[in-house]
Amino acid sequence: MQSELRNVGNYIIRHCEEEDLKSVIDINMVTLPEHYSDYFFSSLLTELPEAFIVAELKNQVIGYIMCKIEFGFSNFRKLGFVKKGHVVSVAVLEEHRGKGIGRALVLEAIKGLRQRKGDEVYLEVRVSNATAVKLYQNISFHIKSKLSSYYRDGEDAYLMAKDLS
Ligand SMILES: CC(C)(COP(=O)(O)OP(=O)(O)OC[C@H]1O[C@@H](n2cnc3c(N)ncnc32)[C@H](O)[C@@H]1OP(=O)(O)O)[C@@H](O)C(=O)NCCC(=O)NCCS
Repeated sequence: MQSELRNVGNYIIRHCEEEDLKSVIDINMVTLPEHYSDYFFSSLLTELPEAFIVAELKNQVIGYIMCKIEFGFSNFRKLGFVKKGHVVSVAVLEEHRGKGIGRALVLEAIKGLRQRKGDEVYLEVRVSNATAVKLYQNISFHIKSKLSSYYRDGEDAYLMAKDLS
């Protein structure tokens, strides 16, 4: 499914490939305190390649977003179970931030979730992560609730969601 989805300056936004996973895991390691097994990254790529996106500069991966699909209660009070995209992790290496790459990654992942007929998308974000909260709000995510002591270090999370219908 190798394909350029869009460019942000000299950066290429494209679908993740199996060969990119090592770089993705390395970026996760240096940018976020939440880490996962190699198998978990690989399984998300297998399950939802449409919404596993990387940003590349000069053949080097410098950012990623990965998601999964879940079925459950709506964050928008829709009746019955809905199909929800869950943003599991998104990160851009520090030296490449503030250039619109995070925004582009989220927007492309949302396109992938729409292709898979997701009804809505949600994520958790640290209440202290003002940059990320602003990024999500700018693309119409809303804070739905506060999850008390969601993170291992005791910090609360905002649950933020966006309706895709
Ligand atoms: C959150 C993160 C992915 C954003 O990536 P990014 O490439 O810097 O994002 P963007 O350049 O698209 O910026 C998005 C918004 O953040 C804000 N922002 C980003 N960099 C900024 C900077 N240096 N100064 C001020 N605001 C900044 C802007 O408000 C921007 O909004 P805009 O679209 O109105 O310009 C990145 O900061 C990151 O990897 N953080 C560490 C991992 C993390 O926290 N992930 C999110 C977990 S939920």
